Amino acid sequence: MKKVFQWETIQKITEYISDGLQIVDYEGKLIFCNRKSAMLDDIDIMDSLGKHITEIYPSLDESNSTILKVLKTGEPILNLEQRYTTYLGNEINTVNSTIPLHDSRGKIIGAVEISKNITDMKKLSEQVVDLQKVVLGSEERFTEDKPLYKFEDIITEDPRTIKMISRAMKAAMTDASVLVVGDTGTGKELLVQAIHNSSNRNNKPFIVQNCASLPESLLEGILFGTLKGGFTGSINRPGLFEIANDGTLFLDEINSMPNQLQTKILRVIQDGKFRRIGDTRIREANVRIIAAVNEDPFEAIEKGNLRRDLFYRLNTITLNLNRLTERNGDIEVLTKYFVNKFNKKYFRNVKGITKEVTEIFDNFSWMGNVRELEHVIEGAISLIEGEWITIYDIPEYLKGNKKRIDNSDLNLRKRLSVLEVELIEEAMKVSNGNISKASLLLNIPRQTLQYKLKKGGAKN
Ligand SMILES: Nc1ncnc2c1ncn2[C@@H]1O[C@H](COP(=O)(O)OP(=O)(O)OP(=O)(O)O)[C@@H](O)[C@H]1O
Ligand SMILES: [Mg+2]
Repeated sequence: MKKVFQWETIQKITEYISDGLQIVDYEGKLIFCNRKSAMLDDIDIMDSLGKHITEIYPSLDESNSTILKVLKTGEPILNLEQRYTTYLGNEINTVNSTIPLHDSRGKIIGAVEISKNITDMKKLSEQVVDLQKVVLGSEERFTEDKPLYKFEDIITEDPRTIKMISRAMKAAMTDASVLVVGDTGTGKELLVQAIHNSSNRNNKPFIVQNCASLPESLLEGILFGTLKGGFTGSINRPGLFEIANDGTLFLDEINSMPNQLQTKILRVIQDGKFRRIGDTRIREANVRIIAAVNEDPFEAIEKGNLRRDLFYRLNTITLNLNRLTERNGDIEVLTKYFVNKFNKKYFRNVKGITKEVTEIFDNFSWMGNVRELEHVIEGAISLIEGEWITIYDIPEYLKGNKKRIDNSDLNLRKRLSVLEVELIEEAMKVSNGNISKASLLLNIPRQTLQYKLKKGGAKN
């Protein structure tokens, strides 16, 4: 037969193939390798041609090399998944088909291996598995038998908070979306649970999803679900909108949700319709949405963290949880409540806090709000020996003001820098040493806080 193509032509054609292609002779020496294959394996074509494949891939031998096996047996190996590390350290997943080459008399003269790179697909499918775990985690959250809070569990004497709670009770009777606004530790979750618990959805799912903790691609899959993908091998998975059907979905820190996803949430709120990722079918969900933001919503809009259209849709009912220091009488009533609570837990008989501690509590800034107060009291009661919580039972940082400020010194700069150090120490304490969180509390850039911490003054 007349030779139609030159070797170079074939070589050129293989450059357009998206799979890796390698050909070895009967001894196992590389005689052809396309660019794709070289890139995949981090090898140099010119350097590798003529070399035995065990020399090119030191980790290969007769026992694990498909090429050598095929040369030996003369039987093809098809669609075998392989995982290996290139000499540059890249982990590669491939699906290989290795076929023996025979001459006209049937003698083996070599083998060809075609490799499909599935590294990215593999990563994607692992992501889907992770996603499934998170979704399952949410289901567990729902089936958990820890009872949800009720309105009676919200302790307050502050007139504005009492008014807000009575609005929340009315809101619970409706299906309207609700926006809860409040700083960290002000009781947002408590309030949202109480709303669900006293609504007529209370025997249906209550699902919480924090929107700040996940990357966009995962969060979208979690919320809307995924459809079985041919190559990812994932199973069909419902999202939280389906899992929470007839119940309540609490989207916490919605101001940290990526913008595009906020648009999709708005759409579901408007018409209850959504699609699983990869699906064309439109599904409907009857879910009540409660969202929370931990910053002023108008500032969040200004900064681009919250979409204006979503805000106006949620804003029909907005419930504001004030900071602990802005509530009248709450430090006192909550202190009593927590003393009682932890007396029970630690089998103590603590009567309360001393006058001195009362004064410290009243003047403290409580940036961690109710949660911080709760921790301070639990910490004190768990270790206490006497009947009263004294200044010796509470953390040092609460007493900062008293110890350091010399009231006779009115030098403004000096006094401000003392205050700054105290605020930084407190923020670091409340955020458990997490600089990013502390910088958010202090409302200063992370780098500024880092600089100030490095400069000294505040203890880290
Ligand atoms: N009014 C209250 N009465 C009793 N306990 C409260 C009250 N407010 C908050 N708590 C307690 O304070 C802690 C923090 O409350 P919660 O988790 O609801 O705060 P949050 O606003 O969701 O905070 P974060 O933004 O940090 O998630 C919880 O242990 C809760 O029980
Ligand atoms: Mg919360």
